[in-house]
This record gives sequence, structure tokens and C-alpha cells, in this order.
Amino acid sequence: MTSADLTVVLRQAVRRLATSVAVLTVWHDDVASGTTVSSVTAISRDPLLIGVCLRAESGLTELLGAAQRFAVNVLSARQSPLAGWFSDPARPRGLDQFDHLEWEPDAFSGAPWISGSLASLGCHLTATIPAGDHNLLLGKVVTARSGEGTPLLHFTGRLHDGILRILPREVTHSPVRAVGPGWS
Ligand SMILES: Cc1cc2nc3c(=O)[nH]c(=O)nc-3n(C[C@H](O)[C@H](O)[C@H](O)COP(=O)(O)O)c2cc1C
Repeated sequence: MTSADLTVVLRQAVRRLATSVAVLTVWHDDVASGTTVSSVTAISRDPLLIGVCLRAESGLTELLGAAQRFAVNVLSARQSPLAGWFSDPARPRGLDQFDHLEWEPDAFSGAPWISGSLASLGCHLTATIPAGDHNLLLGKVVTARSGEGTPLLHFTGRLHDGILRILPREVTHSPVRAVGPGWS
């Protein structure tokens, strides 16, 4: 196997991680910006910390460094067009990219909280950790609101409607039955 083939195999496996999709927003000195991220995760319950991976080259990096605060809007399945919009390099810069949306400023960060999101969080940036071609941002959650709906999910490079079906308890509590054909 060539090293190029190996890279494909490794990336294919990592793409099996199903994640939520969010729009990370930053506001500083009357400039706002947003970008689609699928790397938001809960890190700590006490203090309440989340992590987000942001491309080092992202247009938000400088703004975030100045603001030291950010917001995260967890998208519902109905908001899938926003995932495309905030990942489009051709979108307008600054506040103009929010023109067609309903939003309000987060009381803590001033960054856009997008209406209709499953949840919106306002965070204090507590650490920026270089990680390969990304930075891992750690944020202490200071403000939050929650909405209703089904989550938008990212899986194998595609967006999915995260219809949630709760598994019966006997399946989730039976490791013996879980280890069957299909496990490798
Ligand atoms: C579903 C999806 C998930 C993404 N997840 C991330 C992510 O976690 N981190 C990141 O830096 N970029 C991610 N991107 C790519 C950025 O949204 C995209 O590169 C965007 O154009 C960057 O704009 P910026 O330079 O203003 O940050 C994702 C894109 C999509 C469509």
C-alpha cells in the first residue's frame, strides 16, 4: 500500500465520526463573521468547556484573537442551507453575510445568535491550541439558549437529517448481544 493509499484509508475511517454541524460566529469592533464547523464537542462539565477546531488560515482567526469571545449556533436539520452558506468562500465578508438571516447579538460575546438554531452558546476563549493545520479553541460557556428540532449531522462527508430513534434499554445494556456479525 502506498502512503497516498494509506492516507485515503485513514481519512475514510475518521469520516465515520458522525458530528453535529454549527456556525461559529465572532464579533469585534462592529465586524462580524461566521463559519461552518463540524468539530464542536463538549470538553468539560465543570467548568463547562467546549472545544472547536478552526482552520489556522480561517478568516475568523484574527477576529477571534482580538475578541477573545465567540458564539456557537448548533444547526437543526431545517437549517442545512446555512451550512453551505457559511462554508462558501464566495460569501460576503463581515456583517453582510448575515443579511438574509434573523439573528440577535449574544449578550456576552456580541456575536450573532442565529434564530431557529437547536442551541446557541456564548463563550469566553480560554485557550487556543495549535493542532496540525487547525487550532483547537477552548471556550468557557457563559451564555446559552436551547431550541427544539432534529439535529443536522455530518457523516462520511455528507449532511444528514439526524432523526433520533431511542434504542431499547435491553440492547444498550447488553454488550454480549452487541458483539455480533458486523463488528470488526
Ligand atoms: C459540514 C462542514 C463542516 C466543516 N467543519 C469545519 C471545521 O470544523 N473547522 C473548520 O475550520 N472548517 C470547517 N469547514 C470548512 C469551512 O466552513 C470553510 O472552509 C469556510 O469557507 C471557511 O471560511 P473562513 O475562512 O471564513 O473560516 C466545514 C465545512 C462544512 C461544509
